[in-house]
Amino acid sequence: MTLLDVQNLEVTYPGGAAAVRGVDLTLEAGQKLGIAGESGCGKSTLALALLRLLPAGTTVGGRILLDGEDVLAMKWGRVRAVRWAGASIVFQGAMHSLNAVHRIGDQIAEPILLHRRATAAGARRRAGELLEQVGLPAARASAYPHELSGGQRQRVMIAMALACDPGLVIADEPTTALDVMIQAQILRLIEELVSEQDVGLIMISHDLAVLADTCDRLAVMYAGRVVEEGPAARVFDDARHPYARALSAAFPRIGDPASRFAPAGLAGDPPDPSALPGGCAFHPRCPVALESCATEDQPLRLADAATGRRAACVHAGAGAEEAAAVVHAPAADTPVPDTSGAGGPGADGDDSGATGSRAGTDDSEATGPGAPGCAATSDAEGATEAAGTGTAGTDGARSTTA
Ligand SMILES: Nc1ncnc2c1ncn2[C@@H]1O[C@H](COP(=O)(O)OP(=O)(O)OP(=O)(O)O)[C@@H](O)[C@H]1O
Ligand code: SF4
Ligand SMILES: [Mg+2]
Repeated sequence: MTLLDVQNLEVTYPGGAAAVRGVDLTLEAGQKLGIAGESGCGKSTLALALLRLLPAGTTVGGRILLDGEDVLAMKWGRVRAVRWAGASIVFQGAMHSLNAVHRIGDQIAEPILLHRRATAAGARRRAGELLEQVGLPAARASAYPHELSGGQRQRVMIAMALACDPGLVIADEPTTALDVMIQAQILRLIEELVSEQDVGLIMISHDLAVLADTCDRLAVMYAGRVVEEGPAARVFDDARHPYARALSAAFPRIGDPASRFAPAGLAGDPPDPSALPGGCAFHPRCPVALESCATEDQPLRLADAATGRRAACVHAGAGAEEAAAVVHAPAADTPVPDTSGAGGPGADGDDSGATGSRAGTDDSEATGPGAPGCAATSDAEGATEAAGTGTAGTDGARSTTA
């Protein structure tokens, strides 16, 4: 059975920001899916939605089938169990996600005690094993978070995410705050652990090159939509959607000095999710937009049957070679067409992205040890429960708005 099957997922925040718009994604056990896109395109919102960690009052639609069970239709007790044993999430900024006054061994043991019904000795032993699995001596279990380096703390977060043997691990920018060497170590560690344990992985990053290197498949998001999805190397090296292509061109290629000294960029800003342009949301920035793109939106459709690659572009439905020729045609510095839309300077994509990141991080920060953080969706029962459960907890349920 497919591990994760996301169908037509829609998320709108209380202020009206349509952060995720009709996303369809699937993930098989043991598969690694990378999600990339500019700041504010909805990556963290998608991740939070998968475990119902969005703020109260957020409207969520569609289906999220985890091992065939719809997460959006689950009762809250079931959601809490699924958050550890079914799927877990690693946020960036481990210092904020760990409880400063508890030893790390206790924090790792806590979900094992609760969700695996282990004895105290058994949970402690398992915490030690998990620390060793992530490359830390078991004796470090007695350390407090401030006694560890940033990279070590992120290893602890990974140990915690694996504590209840979840089928799916979601890593949202797990290495952003770390230096380059430690970033590489942590990414390799996540990749190895996931491969060894046949766990599904969703890795979120701005860095398409890293994702292409780490993941089997890649999904590129723009303005709340997946605009291209397919085998990682194909999407990185030969994208069919003009935005995915521009994102990929922003990364220098090894062995190509020209790209190293003149990495391509994309003019303009991402649109404000509360005031999206009509038609294809990318049209104000698209170098190959047609007149019809200002009024006609494009669904994600098969662009390459052999690899199952999908792209949401008017050119993607053409024969593979023809589509590639159109999308490849313009130079990277092609001027942005003068079309109307909300995506121009002043749109708050960057700022909003920062807000979004904070929402995710705050949640994990507030919920503390071993808690993936929680807040209700539009589900009233959930809102009440989240508000009533408090912060420091075992399951860490907390409403970010209540
Ligand atoms: N709690 C919130 N309330 C209202 N709007 C929000 C909230 N969290 C995020 N948003 C908005 O939703 C959109 C998507 O944000 P999200 O954090 O998912 O982006 P992201 O792709 O993860 O960005 P980044 O790469 O910066 O982390 C942004 O426009 C953001 O402003
Ligand atoms: S549908 Fe039109 S505007 Fe959108 S990416 Fe394709 S060519 Fe560009
Ligand atoms: Mg984010």
